[in-house]
Amino acid sequence: MRRNLVVGNWKMKINHQSAQELVDGLIAGMPAVDADIAVCPPFLYIPEVSQRLANTSISWGAQNVATHIEGAYTGEIAAVMLKDFNCKYAIVGHSERRANYADTDITVAQRFQQAIDAGIIPVLAIGELLEDREQGRTFDVVAKQLNAVIDFAGIDSFQNAVIAYEPVWAIGTGKTASAEQAQEVHLYIRQLLAEKNQQIAENMQILYGGSVKPQNAEALFAMPDIDGALVGGDSLSADSFLKIYSSFQK
Ligand code: 13P
Repeated sequence: MRRNLVVGNWKMKINHQSAQELVDGLIAGMPAVDADIAVCPPFLYIPEVSQRLANTSISWGAQNVATHIEGAYTGEIAAVMLKDFNCKYAIVGHSERRANYADTDITVAQRFQQAIDAGIIPVLAIGELLEDREQGRTFDVVAKQLNAVIDFAGIDSFQNAVIAYEPVWAIGTGKTASAEQAQEVHLYIRQLLAEKNQQIAENMQILYGGSVKPQNAEALFAMPDIDGALVGGDSLSADSFLKIYSSFQK
C-alpha cells in the first residue's frame, strides 16, 4: 500500500534565522501521524537543517539538482553533493524553474536521472498552464512532461520516484484545483504509468501542489489517487504545515 507524504518547498522565502525557527517548530509540534514528511530548504541551509532533523521522523531534500554528475558547471549543485548531506528527496522540474531558468523536458529528465543515480528520490513536478487548461490541453501537457522523463530514464527508475502534479495556475495564487479536478489528473497520471508498468503505477506516490492549506488538505487527501502534497507558502509556518500533515489522520 502507498504511504502518504507531504513535502514542504521553502523556495527562496526563508533566511538562516527563520529556517532554524521553522525546524524547531516542526520538531516540537510533530504529531503522531503514520505518513511521511519532508522539507526542502534552499541549498545553503541544508547542512544545518539536516543536522537538526537527524534522528527525527522528518526528512529533507533539495529544490533542484544539477544535470551532470560533476564538472565545470559554475553555480550548480550535484546530486552526489546532496547525498553527502543525506538528502532523501530532490524536486526536479518545478514550474518556476521551467519558466524562469529555461528547464526543458530534457534537462528535467537529466536532473531526474542524476537524482536516481545518486540514490535520491526525485520529486518530479509536472503541470499545465492556465491557457493549457482553458484550451483543453491539460492531459496532453502532463503526458508530454511525464513521457519525456520515462523515455529518458526508463520506467523502472520510477520505482524510486515521486510525482507532484502542480497546475501552474494554482501555485501561489490561492486558487487550488478542486479535489475533483486534481483527482482527475492524478488518475490520468497513474493510468499513463500503468500502461508501462502496473506495479509502479500502483505504488507511485502522486502529490498535489498548488495553494494547499489546512482548509483544503483534507478534501484533497480523501481522493483515491492523491497521496499527499507538495506545499509552498503554507510550509513556511510550522503550525500550518503540521496541520496539513495531520489531515491524513482524518
Ligand atoms: P504554493 O503552495 O505556495 O501554492 O506553492 C506550491 C508549490 O509550488 C510547491 O512546490
